[in-house]
Amino acid sequence: MEKIDIADLYRKSGTLEGKTVTVCGWVRTIRDSKALGFIDLNDGSGFKGVQIVFEDGKIGNYKEVARLNVGTAVSVTGTVVLTPQAKQPLEIHAAELCVEGASTPDYPLQKKRHSLEYLRTVAHLRPRTNTFSAAFRIRSAAAYAIHTFFQERGFVYVHTPLITGSDAEGAGEMFTVTAFDLDRLPRRENGAVDFSKDFFGGHTSLTVSGQLEAECMAMAFGKVYTFGPTFRAERSYTQRHAAEFWMIEPEVAFADLDDNMALAQDMIRSVIRAVMEKCPDDLAFCNQFIDKGLLDRLNHVANSDFARVTYSDAIEILKKENGRFDYQVEWGSDLQTEHERYLTEQVFKKPVFVTDYPKEIKAFYMRLNDDGKTVAAVDLLVPGIGEIIGGSQREERLDVLERRLRETGMNEDAYRWYLDLRRYGGAKHSGYGLGFERLVMYLTGISNIRDVIPFPRTTGSAEF
Ligand code: 4AD
Repeated sequence: MEKIDIADLYRKSGTLEGKTVTVCGWVRTIRDSKALGFIDLNDGSGFKGVQIVFEDGKIGNYKEVARLNVGTAVSVTGTVVLTPQAKQPLEIHAAELCVEGASTPDYPLQKKRHSLEYLRTVAHLRPRTNTFSAAFRIRSAAAYAIHTFFQERGFVYVHTPLITGSDAEGAGEMFTVTAFDLDRLPRRENGAVDFSKDFFGGHTSLTVSGQLEAECMAMAFGKVYTFGPTFRAERSYTQRHAAEFWMIEPEVAFADLDDNMALAQDMIRSVIRAVMEKCPDDLAFCNQFIDKGLLDRLNHVANSDFARVTYSDAIEILKKENGRFDYQVEWGSDLQTEHERYLTEQVFKKPVFVTDYPKEIKAFYMRLNDDGKTVAAVDLLVPGIGEIIGGSQREERLDVLERRLRETGMNEDAYRWYLDLRRYGGAKHSGYGLGFERLVMYLTGISNIRDVIPFPRTTGSAEF
């Protein structure tokens, strides 16, 4: 018997009338009267479930099936009946209904709407709900669209290490990796752990960014991108920070900051278009139940240019509104989420690139501008979230980079290899990092990063 995904059932419905098919999935709802019952069966292949009609006499185990609990796994063989007048365009009339795995009455996902907070406590089961199945299918489609975008443009997908000896951002927010219990490692005279006796013979951490290694690869392939897990030990109890998240980091040789912004805009618009095409039902659900303006916003963004403003001009705009902010801004302040959201939601009302930040609040590798005060940095801010991309033109001048390393108190020796890129055929180059979860938040309207990651790791939480 042909086993078919429910999504394919709808796609091919025109050719399936009267055909016998087998579908497998989990019972979302079940009701029955004396000799006739209905199951809403969902297999996760698409947003819609399929209605299974089961009748006493037509299946041999009617009584057993009528008593099934929500959450049970079943396989059903039956006839496809088109029902153009009904809410759902087709149903399956069961000839055989096999219980693959029963569920119990205390199944944590009942028919009522559960709160997102409650569903976080059942992260192992929540992918079976409408909200999470939509979110994770959109996540999958977005990941594929990102690969397609870069692959079609000749970028080479590179894999950068997760365990690293250098701090790519110089922000000291790394998780230490050690093969042994820290207490068992010897101490130096000053009491510090002696990592030279550890597995790698030196201090190692989980990566905060693959950028520095991506720069090496860009200096060989011209255009590269990474797409992998990233780890940050920031103690940020916010809705948009996770300790483990995925980042996409393109790096392009012979490209300046303008090229960087053009690439980021093309990528975001292309991913939005691809997801709208691939997941219309999931997006329609998000638009109806999560964020009413979602589809209008995505449509608009997919077809319009993003705004641009320099950091200095942004500060002038924000200073006039200092009264409304928890954190007052002045030139030199780091922008907080409230400032980012004000700029993108109230001032520009669309995604906005903010460029040329003060060097003191940005990483050591960003190219120093001629004013000696700012660097060729760019952040992309979007409504509802704030920053989703951070990038820059990289400092390609060896002497300036060495000076910046010293100024920022970094250990120059640990970055010898990085400096070599400037010694041997260094070239102007640029890149950025897109926070994948923040993109998925933007695509779904979901406001908490914990709800776009199957098993989120945030401060104080790594339960599942
Ligand atoms: O601005 P960030 O720190 O930039 C970098 O890491 C650069 N090395 C990127 C590059 O130029 N190749 O981070 C980039 C993006 C942010 O804009 C944000 O979307 C995301 O990564 N991000 C986080 N997402 C979730 N949780 C966190 N704790 C994040 N920290 C950064």
